[in-house]
This record gives sequence, structure tokens and C-alpha cells, in this order.
Amino acid sequence: MRTKSDFKTYHHEVYQQLEHELKAISSNRTTVIKKDFQDLEKVHTRFVESLFGGKMIRGTLVKLGYELVSKKETKEILKPAAAFEIFHSALLIHDDVIDASPLRRGKPTVYMQERDKQLGISQAICLGDLGITLAVRILAESNFPPERKNNALSYFLTMISQTILGEMLDIQSAQTYERTEQQVMKVHLMKTANYTIVGPLTVGAILAGGDETLLENIKRFGEKVGVAFQIQDDILGVFGDNTEIGKSTTSDIEENKSTLFITYCLKHANAKQKAFLKSYYGKKDITKKHYEEIKTIFVTTGALTYCQNKIAELTAEAKKIIPSLTKDKTKQKLLAQFTDLLIKRNK
Ligand code: IPE
Ligand code: IPE
Ligand code: MG
Ligand code: MG
Repeated sequence: MRTKSDFKTYHHEVYQQLEHELKAISSNRTTVIKKDFQDLEKVHTRFVESLFGGKMIRGTLVKLGYELVSKKETKEILKPAAAFEIFHSALLIHDDVIDASPLRRGKPTVYMQERDKQLGISQAICLGDLGITLAVRILAESNFPPERKNNALSYFLTMISQTILGEMLDIQSAQTYERTEQQVMKVHLMKTANYTIVGPLTVGAILAGGDETLLENIKRFGEKVGVAFQIQDDILGVFGDNTEIGKSTTSDIEENKSTLFITYCLKHANAKQKAFLKSYYGKKDITKKHYEEIKTIFVTTGALTYCQNKIAELTAEAKKIIPSLTKDKTKQKLLAQFTDLLIKRNK
């Protein structure tokens, strides 16, 4: 039987609370739109719908971060937790335009919801912008001691700009075919690890009054887990099941994305494989045959195993940091289980 020391149960509970919180926030926003911007009601609904259907890892970690410091649970933490989920969804609305991705969480992406493509993109840019400002506002209006909240806000804004800069590095590195593992790892850290693992745990801990040492240890832990999380995302983005991950499994290839697959093959593939990748990695409207061939190259060169080993290495290192995050055995167990689940996930 599962207990509260089981991450799946913990996650399930927080997931439901977060859904409830996000519904309340959405309903408030919809009231404002209905009152003053009736003409935008239909388009605005797309933003509201985009908030649901994800795993809600970030929101869950805000709550866990708070509970690493405070023994008392508080419902108020659901607001900063919702702020992370709102920021994440807004970022994804923009990311899908950037990556030309047609599918997100099993549904057409926000920018694809108009017949006119440019109109869809224009609306997606604005809806994403609205989401980012809403996220900051939800955190700003949450009820925590003023000094802690100011620190959390300042941290949150720095984290947001780091993530956007990380996304820009990702875009830039997809402009060239040659790139190094070091560059890819930096992109993973900046675009994903900061806002997915380090950020949520840090904001939760700051709001509960956590000290500098804890924040440093969260950073060490979260950077490793977060980079592993993105490597797993890259594996699923090519080898995953389309319907299960709810995203395209060819976008990364067609968009010439910087992943460890490609940096590994640049070094270790044979001449024929390298020539094939150079011709087809980054090519739009890839055929099924070429897609399968790229997957075969990733397997036979050992690139897939390399990625899996890297994840195992990073998570093993991260787990060693757990005892410095909390002395509470139940919470240590939650963090260890969460680390394992993230990398064993298939969506
Ligand atoms: C997807 O994040 C974007 C990345 C940072 C890799 P998630 O895998 O957490 O997406 P959802 O929220 O569950 O859809
Ligand atoms: C994830 O980017 C990080 C963000 C800044 C959103 P990806 O492009 O790798 O994420 P997915 O695979 O589309 O979810
Ligand atoms: Mg992207
Ligand atoms: Mg993407």
C-alpha cells in the first residue's frame, strides 16, 4: 500500500490541489476577459486550456521545497506552485512556435489553432506573454512574509530570464551542424534544469525561510537532476511513443536540435553514418524511412546507451546530495523516488 512517503502518492495529491488552484486562477482571468475583452474570449480559452494536461512536476516541487524547511503545510504554497505551472505553460506556447511543433500534451499546439498560420503565431506570442506576467503576479500576490516573498520574486525573475536566454542558446546552436557536448550540456542547464528542478525547490525553500547552505545544495542537486531530465526528454523526443508523450517524435530531428545524440555521433559515427546524418538531420518533412535510419544510427553508434549512462551518472551523483537537503528520512525517500521516476518516465 502506498503511503505519504511514496512520491507517486505525494505527486497525485499535489497534482489534484494544483489543478484546483489553476482552475480558480483561470476562472478569475476569464471573468476579467469577459468583462473588458469579450472579443478575445475564444482565443483566451486556448491559454486556459494549455495550463492543464502536463505532469505538474514543477508545482509539486515548489511544495516539496517548502516542506524541506517547514514542518507545517500551508495551502498558500499552491499559489507559487501554480505560478511555476503557468510560467511553464507560457514558455511551452512560445517553445512550440520556435520548434515548429504541432502537438503538445496530445493536442494541437496553441499556435496551430488558427487556419491562418501567421495569425496563430501572433496569438501564441501574446498568450505566452500574458502567461509569463500572470505567473509573476500570482507569486507577487501570494501571502508570505514580505522579505521572503521579495527574495522569491527576485529569484523567480532571474530564473525566468536565464531560461529565456537558455532557449536562445538552444535556437542559436541549432543554426550549425557542428556542436560540442559542453555546449549541449550548458543549454540543458540553462533552458531546463534551472526552471524545472532548481527553481521550484528554491522558491519553495525561500518562502519557508531556508538558509543559503540549503539553497546551494538544492542548486547542486537540481542542476544534475534537471540536466538528466532534459536528456530523458531528448530520448523520448526521438524514441518515445508519439501518443504517449503527446508530442511529435520527429520535431527535434527536423529542427536540427542540439542533443547528446548528435554530439556523440559527430565524434563516434563512421563516415557513412556521419554523411547520412549531415544530409538528413535538420531536414524538414522527414520520411519514415529516414527517421528510422537516424534512430538506427543513434542505437548502433552507442549514442542512445551513452545518453542513458549519462542520466544514470547524473542521478547517482544527485542522490548523494539528498542527505544535505533534509535530515527527515521520509522526505529523503520522496526526493530519491522522484529522481528515479523522472528518468524512468515514458512521457
Ligand atoms: C517539457 O516539460 C519541457 C521540458 C523542459 C523538457 P515536461 O515534460 O515537464 O512537460 P509537461 O508539463 O509534463 O507537459
Ligand atoms: C524545453 O525545450 C525547455 C523550454 C525552454 C521549454 P524543448 O523544446 O526541449 O522541450 P519539448 O521537448 O518541446 O517539450
Ligand atoms: Mg525547444
Ligand atoms: Mg520544444
